[in-house]
Amino acid sequence: MTDAAPQPVFLKDYTPFGFLVDQVELNVHLHPTATRVRAKIAFRPNPAARDRRFFLHGEDLTLISAAIDGTPVTPEITPEGLSCPVPEAPFTWEAEVEIAPAENTALEGLYMSNGMYCTQCEAEGFRKITFYPDRPDVMAPFRVRIDGDLPVLLSNGNPVAQGAGWAEWNDPWPKPSYLFALVAGELVATSDRFTTSEGREVALNVWVRPADQGKADYALDSLIRSMKWDEEVYGRAYDLDVFNIVAVDDFNMGAMENKGLNVFNSRYVLASPETATDRDYENIERIIAHEYFHNWTGDRITCRDWFQLSLKEGLTVFRDSQFSADMRSAAVKRIEDVMTLRARQFREDNGPLAHPVRPESYAEINNFYTATVYEKGAEVIGMVRRLVGPEGYAKALDLYFARHDGQACTIEDWLQVFEEATGRDLTRFKRWYSQAGTPRVKVTEDFKDGTYTLHLEQKTPPTPGQDEKLPQVIPLALGLLSPNGDEVLPTTVIELTEARQEAVFEGLAAKPVPSLLRGFSAPVILERDSTPEERAFLLAHDTDPFNKWEAGRSLAREVLIAMVTEDAAPAPAWLDALAAVVRDEALDPAFRALALRLPGEDELAEALADRGAVPDPLAIHAARERAKTAVARHLDPLWAGLYAQMACPGPYSPGAADAGRRALRLAALGYMARLDGGARAQAHFSAADNMTDEIGALSVLLETGGADEALDRFARRWGHDRLVMDKWFGLQATLAAPERAVAVTRALTEHADFTWKNPNRFRAVIGGFSANAAGFHDASGAGYDLVADWLIRLDAVNPQTAARMSTAFETWARYDEGRREKAQAALERIAAREGLSRDMGEMVGRLLAAGRIAA
Ligand code: PHE
Ligand code: ZN
Repeated sequence: MTDAAPQPVFLKDYTPFGFLVDQVELNVHLHPTATRVRAKIAFRPNPAARDRRFFLHGEDLTLISAAIDGTPVTPEITPEGLSCPVPEAPFTWEAEVEIAPAENTALEGLYMSNGMYCTQCEAEGFRKITFYPDRPDVMAPFRVRIDGDLPVLLSNGNPVAQGAGWAEWNDPWPKPSYLFALVAGELVATSDRFTTSEGREVALNVWVRPADQGKADYALDSLIRSMKWDEEVYGRAYDLDVFNIVAVDDFNMGAMENKGLNVFNSRYVLASPETATDRDYENIERIIAHEYFHNWTGDRITCRDWFQLSLKEGLTVFRDSQFSADMRSAAVKRIEDVMTLRARQFREDNGPLAHPVRPESYAEINNFYTATVYEKGAEVIGMVRRLVGPEGYAKALDLYFARHDGQACTIEDWLQVFEEATGRDLTRFKRWYSQAGTPRVKVTEDFKDGTYTLHLEQKTPPTPGQDEKLPQVIPLALGLLSPNGDEVLPTTVIELTEARQEAVFEGLAAKPVPSLLRGFSAPVILERDSTPEERAFLLAHDTDPFNKWEAGRSLAREVLIAMVTEDAAPAPAWLDALAAVVRDEALDPAFRALALRLPGEDELAEALADRGAVPDPLAIHAARERAKTAVARHLDPLWAGLYAQMACPGPYSPGAADAGRRALRLAALGYMARLDGGARAQAHFSAADNMTDEIGALSVLLETGGADEALDRFARRWGHDRLVMDKWFGLQATLAAPERAVAVTRALTEHADFTWKNPNRFRAVIGGFSANAAGFHDASGAGYDLVADWLIRLDAVNPQTAARMSTAFETWARYDEGRREKAQAALERIAAREGLSRDMGEMVGRLLAAGRIAA
């Protein structure tokens, strides 16, 4: 094990900082290995605090000089920061430090990427730039002067003045240090203007490297639509004269909401039809909106401490989902969100890394930017909205913005505005923030004399550190269908609050078919004995689009599980039901494409483990292959017609309608390839005039064999484009056949273009391979070793991304003893490394601890 187990921080230990900051002035003199940062900070005792020790965070800083009110001081310095005696009255702190951005490979603080300087300060990166109370509840206006020999020099707020080699910025809005940003480089802008509802003229710029010029139009367009939407739907207008977005190639996450200066992973900005897929466009639109929406939910109102992270992230994800639903198809967006929630958050909640939406302790906060904090956090907000209704929600949000503008808040503040605005008591509801684990709702029913009764029982399984669970408040949306397919009860929301409850419906002519958890009204697992006939019935008749899809999905899941465990043939009822959906031209092509997607291997492994079986990754993979071939054969008469019908006439457009047609067409292509040996897919690949079709056809060829030549052609065509090549690397690792996956991935890591210090490239290959369930869980343990070796290597360079990728091992404890032993050995090998980061130390410790219990 690591020498010292990382010291956790606890929510219950929160105390305010002893001082308030009235003003920050920074002067940054850029140099790759010797950047000088001079800070002048006006402090004043905080009347609300008792502890007056003056401690400033600071890491990897060389202190050149420090002074208080102009008098030099010699602070006491540790690896975490400095302390110093200070006056009991307002004072000015001045310090000069030196840092080396070119040597910063962790991509946190000030670093360099392709010759450009940029910063990443969330959560605790500002302390690598200067000494500061680097905590979100210390908010201050910042004034920044940048000196550097580069044409574009940016920071937060409004531009004040600039000349050759310098620029000055002023951000009047008090903000925590994690929202500080600075960018300097040779950049070009795609620009527009926006006039806010309050009459403010805002200059909008999306900055990219010159070679990427022309690929920022969609990001800019998404920004304008986001600004308009937030005014119309939430009444929130933008509050500075400029809004800058910068694309960088080396970035640990998706993007960052720095005040007035959003910094983005270039994959979520750059797009052209030839290089970006429909999915890329959708992600750009969503993430541009997400970061923009943070301006109010995150920047103007921020978090008191990092335990409250979901206050900004859950809410902002909820807001960006609403936006995407408005821009595209609400039904398709909901289905996609639930698929991701189940694949990532349910998996997390059911494993060794389970934690509440508001964690109570952490060793490294970077490890808590999770699906639980983000996606489950967003679901919790969706539930509040369902409980209080759209008007109550709107009233509560108005109160939230009015009351807390300029503050650093807690989940309590957030719930309080709902209680006041709607009169509803949310005491019990608050458990969603403190209790980890996915609740299971078990449903049985009876019908007698026209009365239909649902018996509902809820239970949340134990999670690490939480054995006993209390009942949750669960809004359960449901409808009832009569046996002839008519809806006899339209969508109604009932509230579960107890461990056991009943819902009674009277005056029914016949026993209805229930459509439960419509729209996925709560993040729970529904347990109910249902027949394939009933599922097929709902797939055909349900008026709720989510549940219509869900019926098909659960039917497919059952069929696949029977294929794995009983070696059963794929049920004809399923194949017929699927054919009916695909044939139904009244349905959105995007919906039909989703219906044709089979549950993934990890989802099936989870379902098997849930039934007490030990999943066999190879058997699951093989069953899924057989099922796909059966679908291909059974629906054979449909494919050619569908393929022809779904062609998009006219030039490429990334809109939802065309994207849906392409998705359905590519699904047809994939099934056809199982019958024609890939001939049509080869032709499709050669004829493609956009990346969606090109990569779609390449994926089909990779899955069905015969991709070698196409892979070569692709690499020759796109070798110069790093974002496109990420796809090339990622697909091969993800789609390699189980027995070849380790070798294919190893070869990819030996490729000259495997620039592993770039997080996108590392994620493509190592993350891609981890998503190849049958390959990663190879019985030899070679997959575990391969990933462990690379995690160790990356950890020394970039702990944050390395630790994040360790979630590949999240499910190790569900497998057979042989695999468990090998996975445990790989994890222990990581844990034993000298100099392991706090990030990785915490992750591996949690992965091992819970796994050992289960083993
Ligand atoms: N706050 C960012 C978001 O919008 C995520 C992020 C966290 C980015 C930490 C970088 C570092 O979700
Ligand atoms: Zn966010």
